[in-house]
Amino acid sequence: MNYQDVLFLDKHDPLAAKRQEFSLPADCIYLDGNSLGALPLAAHKRASEVVSEQWGNDLIQSWNKHQWIDLPRQVGEKIAPLVGAAPGQVICCDSISVNLFKLLCSALHMQPDRKLVVSQADNFPTDLYMVQGVSELLSSERCTLQMVSEDTIENALNDQVAVLLLSQVNFRSGKLLDMQKITQKAHKKGILVIWDLAHSAGAFQVELDQCQVDFAVGCGYKYLNGGPGAPAFLYVAKRHQQFVQQPLSGWMGHKAPFKFDAQYIASEGVQQYLCGTPPILSMSVLDAALGVYEKLDMDLLRKKSVGLSELFMQSVDQYEVLSDLHLHSPLQAEHRGSQLAYQHPAAYAICQNLIARGVIGDFRAPDILRFGFTPLYLRYEDIWQAVKILAEIIGDKTYLDEKYTTEQKVT
Ligand SMILES: Cc1ncc(COP(=O)(O)O)c(C=O)c1O
Repeated sequence: MNYQDVLFLDKHDPLAAKRQEFSLPADCIYLDGNSLGALPLAAHKRASEVVSEQWGNDLIQSWNKHQWIDLPRQVGEKIAPLVGAAPGQVICCDSISVNLFKLLCSALHMQPDRKLVVSQADNFPTDLYMVQGVSELLSSERCTLQMVSEDTIENALNDQVAVLLLSQVNFRSGKLLDMQKITQKAHKKGILVIWDLAHSAGAFQVELDQCQVDFAVGCGYKYLNGGPGAPAFLYVAKRHQQFVQQPLSGWMGHKAPFKFDAQYIASEGVQQYLCGTPPILSMSVLDAALGVYEKLDMDLLRKKSVGLSELFMQSVDQYEVLSDLHLHSPLQAEHRGSQLAYQHPAAYAICQNLIARGVIGDFRAPDILRFGFTPLYLRYEDIWQAVKILAEIIGDKTYLDEKYTTEQKVT
């Protein structure tokens, strides 16, 4: 593919206009929307409205006047179609880690005769840490983590396993697991399944209901563009809602929080997964950010995500100097999320040098350069330019400069 072909792709991109809904810095190619999404203009506007008018002017009346109290449910229902969930099953709250704690406890409670929680050994560490924490709390008699390689997940499914906890897209490699097949196999052995959608929600259409998933979690700050530390969400399948209970029995999950009863009575449905007061500022921002997904054709989104990733891979292959980059992601698009990972011994320094040249990707220890493809605001031309700059950096070895090799606190 040559530069003219790339311009042609942008000219005929049905999603091209979406870029205008974002505030993007000049001279920056942002390949990190899978870590922190860019700022939607609507989110910016809402942030100032909520601070100045709702908080500043209407003060505490805003809980009713601006329906702050309904935000967790309202935002959950906006996320629901993106993850293939019918109404009443998704709620916005807390972080993925905290939501995993709640869901792990719920699932284990439903499986009194089983104690194993199986997860990918290279799952995002917080998922593993949360199982370890629950195990400490409940004892290893009630919860024991079993880590398996991604290739052996199905072999590990047996009638000792209580819960299967998987990330649908591997945070390092971008490998996409077959949600339908794995959930079905787990159910045949009586296992409940929790899917982590951190790298799925907003990256492509997820089908939780169709796959008969039991529970899921996902975050608001990556593809959903809710801003740094945006609240997360969780999903509880309707069929489980009357049987579940969760241990973080805070007042917002109470059936009648404003009765101020001394006795906790859980709310019905997914609402019982709320705990404390919702973070109204950040949840309002996420609410507004989700507007960019309204009436969006998710097939077009996925098609462009694949197009951008394929262009990146093909461009890398065109440069002889990039032959030391080793693709760590699956070669076939149908087995990938919306990101690519390349291994290189100097990945950290290369990443820093790229950032200095205006191309923002990220580094994942020990040796991975990770690039995320967010079709709503990336152009094919951006990909072409990014790989050109990557080839210059590696070809000229500028990344060897000391200023790129010193590790910062957040890598
Ligand atoms: C797969 C996965 N799960 C969980 C998290 C962390 O979630 P949180 O910080 O909301 O607890 C991340 C963060 O990048 C992630 O990639």
